Amino acid sequence: MSHQEESSYERISTRIVNSSAEGCRLVANEIAELVTKKRDEGQKTVLGLATGSTPTGVYRELIKLHREGFSFASLITFNLDEYYPISSTHPESYYYFMREQLFDHLDVPDENIHIPDGSVDRADVYSNCQAYEDKINKVGGLDFQLLGIGRTGHIGFNEPGSGRDSRTRLVHLDSLTRKDAARDFLGVENVPRYALTMGVGTIWDARRIVLLAWGEAKAAVLAQAVQGEPIETLPASLLQGHPNLEVIADEAAACELTRMKRPWLVGKVPWKPRMIRSAVSWLSNEADKPILKLLDEDYSERGLADLLTEHGPAYDLNIRVFNEVQHTLTGWPGGKPRASDEHRPERAEPHPKRSLILAPEPLNDIIGMGGTLHRLIDQGHEVTVACLTSGNLAVPDADASKAAELVMDLAELSKGDETAEALFAKRALEELHEKNDFAGDSESIRCLKGLIRRGEAKMACEVCGLPTAKVRFLDLPFYEKGKYRQFRLEDEDVQKVRGLLEELKPHQLYCTGAQAEPSTVQAVCFEALRRAWEALGNADWINECYVWLYRGVSQEWDASEIDMAVPLSPAELANKIQGIYQHQTQRSQTPTSNRTLRDIWRQAEDCDQRVAESYDRLGLAEYEAIEGFRRWNGVGTAPTE
Ligand code: F6R
Repeated sequence: MSHQEESSYERISTRIVNSSAEGCRLVANEIAELVTKKRDEGQKTVLGLATGSTPTGVYRELIKLHREGFSFASLITFNLDEYYPISSTHPESYYYFMREQLFDHLDVPDENIHIPDGSVDRADVYSNCQAYEDKINKVGGLDFQLLGIGRTGHIGFNEPGSGRDSRTRLVHLDSLTRKDAARDFLGVENVPRYALTMGVGTIWDARRIVLLAWGEAKAAVLAQAVQGEPIETLPASLLQGHPNLEVIADEAAACELTRMKRPWLVGKVPWKPRMIRSAVSWLSNEADKPILKLLDEDYSERGLADLLTEHGPAYDLNIRVFNEVQHTLTGWPGGKPRASDEHRPERAEPHPKRSLILAPEPLNDIIGMGGTLHRLIDQGHEVTVACLTSGNLAVPDADASKAAELVMDLAELSKGDETAEALFAKRALEELHEKNDFAGDSESIRCLKGLIRRGEAKMACEVCGLPTAKVRFLDLPFYEKGKYRQFRLEDEDVQKVRGLLEELKPHQLYCTGAQAEPSTVQAVCFEALRRAWEALGNADWINECYVWLYRGVSQEWDASEIDMAVPLSPAELANKIQGIYQHQTQRSQTPTSNRTLRDIWRQAEDCDQRVAESYDRLGLAEYEAIEGFRRWNGVGTAPTE
């Protein structure tokens, strides 16, 4: 396929890389080459920088280059944005972030580093913004601007509605953006309402712009920015037409681009089974007909004439794909004993199976596969749920205080207030009282919060029928040592996962996170699994183990992508929601509202129902809800072809 054909839907030149790590290396090397070239010409390099999860891999690569001897002393940097109001010592300020993630580890002179000042008086904001623009102009403008993209399509903090000519200014933050930042600020009410940001016009003036996007959560917005009309409601799209702009995305972030999702619309494709299923399912949606009613004309009129030539007529294709989709459906996720498994996603034997379900954070398991978990237990399998991380970072202080008070009250009741438990609770409570709002938690607070989540996870599994003794907790060290966006997987994490796999030798393994943004807990846990899997090599049991990927919250798969679809009855769905409700600390952290937990179960319910509807539209049976799974072959992050 020519490059021209590939990108005919794309209005921005887009490079799809195999992994974010590869993309980050490319960008870091490009920056280093630019620095070298300009330095050789006796000039400084002016670099526009972003914060957030997306560019951190690039920063790590730049630090690595510096450790190997590369000097960044000739860099002048300008950051895109900063919260307002915020002090530079606030751990969530972008000033603090940039110090921690980059500048403390490079030799960029302090006077060359520019970050909008979130602590200036309101009266001085305007002149400060003007001065920021003047400084950029004075050094000759930006040579290279690095960008991420927000879920609202924002670049910098240019939220929907920002004009193409906007310049550095104070902006009001979108509620979705504030929600996305709520976890970092320990509650949405703590997220500043305003921010200072370079404008779209300021960014446009850069001589080269590279926009990075990693992970499936960015897929929809990226496709709109790259393929949609340029519109102010999606600020990243306003960059279309820039003479030197490139998007670099991993496969998960690029998966909604037409060339990835509907490649037959872009050029000639090899008609492999998965591609055929995908095309016929798409056609059924486009023609608004169930698969079995598609006609030859439907195929030829919608650009699938060559599929018809190679594998037609429509009658044959329809039956073939209908059967394939039909065969993904099963009420027996662990296989149906004593029944033919020729057309079932799972093998009949052995029965019962050892089923291991990995939850990166407690709750992921219930959201992605609470109904299937229930079925596996009902059908007699030996199920273990392993929560890989404690999830303690997501517990509000108030819940920890409540638990500590309870322990102390209990101790007092039993006149045991000098017991180790009572003393522990007392210490935790004191530390909670002394803690300032954004300080990290002490070891005892984290331990207490972890125990609270353990309790919730056990109760949720119990709702699904699993005895609490079958819920394991790995407390992977990367999580205990880290904070959101800054987790680093280490060998000890991989060893722990490996140990669990070796101990249980599952016949089937359920996990998630293969397509998540690389800094998320889910992606880090998946990477731990991938490495553990690789290290276990060709052990006999590994070759016999089926690995099933379940989805994350609000990211269901297309029916054509699913390898195993487990239907849920209304009662099973209600039970799953009951399971989600056991995770009470995951409610909104505003004292008066229970919104987040409700949001979570609604999203989970919607996802499962949307999958069921998509099966229904293809002409299959109409179910209340479906949990979908993809099979993974143990290599890379892509599901099995
Ligand atoms: C921050 C910035 C933002 C982020 C965007 C994506 O300086 O420019 O536009 O790039 O919010 O954030 P992450 O990378 O955390 O997904």
